[in-house]
Amino acid sequence: MIKKGIILAGGSGTRLSPLTKAVNKQLLPVYDKPMIFYPLSVMMLANIRKILMIVNPGQIESFKNLLGDGSRYGINISYKIQEKPRGLPDAFNLGKSFIQNDNVALILGDNFFYGQSLTKTLEKSSQHRSGATIFLKEVSAPENYGVAKIKKNKIENIVEKPKKFISNKAITGLYFFDKNVSDYTAKLKRSKRGELEITDLIKEYKKRKKLKYELIGRGAIWSDAGKMEDLNNVSNYVRSVEKVQGIKIACLEEISLLKKWINKNKIKKNINFYGDCEYSAYLKKIIN
Ligand code: G1P
Repeated sequence: MIKKGIILAGGSGTRLSPLTKAVNKQLLPVYDKPMIFYPLSVMMLANIRKILMIVNPGQIESFKNLLGDGSRYGINISYKIQEKPRGLPDAFNLGKSFIQNDNVALILGDNFFYGQSLTKTLEKSSQHRSGATIFLKEVSAPENYGVAKIKKNKIENIVEKPKKFISNKAITGLYFFDKNVSDYTAKLKRSKRGELEITDLIKEYKKRKKLKYELIGRGAIWSDAGKMEDLNNVSNYVRSVEKVQGIKIACLEEISLLKKWINKNKIKKNINFYGDCEYSAYLKKIIN
């Protein structure tokens, strides 16, 4: 079982500058919610309630103003500062005392997932006991991502940002690891870009024949929102879906209420906290 999750919400967000000069990338709006709500909702849908949020120096307060200790959403959020970006696996160095001897999920704070089949896949994958699970999605520009080549339903090869085409299946920013993750991270060497690479960590599991994958199908979407255009696309997507269907994507209270982690009274308090806004109006609709 996976009961703990780390959200990487640090980074300088240079590709989104000047938006990110004064505000952390993960606190920027994706249509009607801060970006961080979306990866946090993914963790919650996977039934993960113990969250470690890794943020930049000086930014814990901003996150706390929004999310507090998580009790508003029936979860537990703790925070850890990353002094400077050293690559994604650094999450497992910083999170060592949080992880202890447990399995752990990792999600990147700027990754957006949405789709019908996703919840089931998440629930299933979070049951896993040993090894690692990665989530693949076909993309049009695989050179921007870590990619996996699949042959006969097996992962044959993994390459970070391949210059030459090997596969169109991108490795998305959601990973489930077993308790060996900190040990394997300790063995990693820095890549040419001077960082620890998540793909190298994944290869440690592949080497031991402990790597599984889930393919995110056509009915679901994945995007990272780290670039101006992607941020705008994802915002527009959320707006379209919400407008046509009259639902909200990544409404944390809705997920939590469905899971019976919070009750309607708690949601009333949250409505007070947010004040008079569309999000509150939606919460009112849910509890009536
Ligand atoms: C990182 C990972 C890459 C993964 C991507 C997903 O890339 O290194 O393997 O496909 O996130 O968003 P980066 O954002 O560091 O370029």
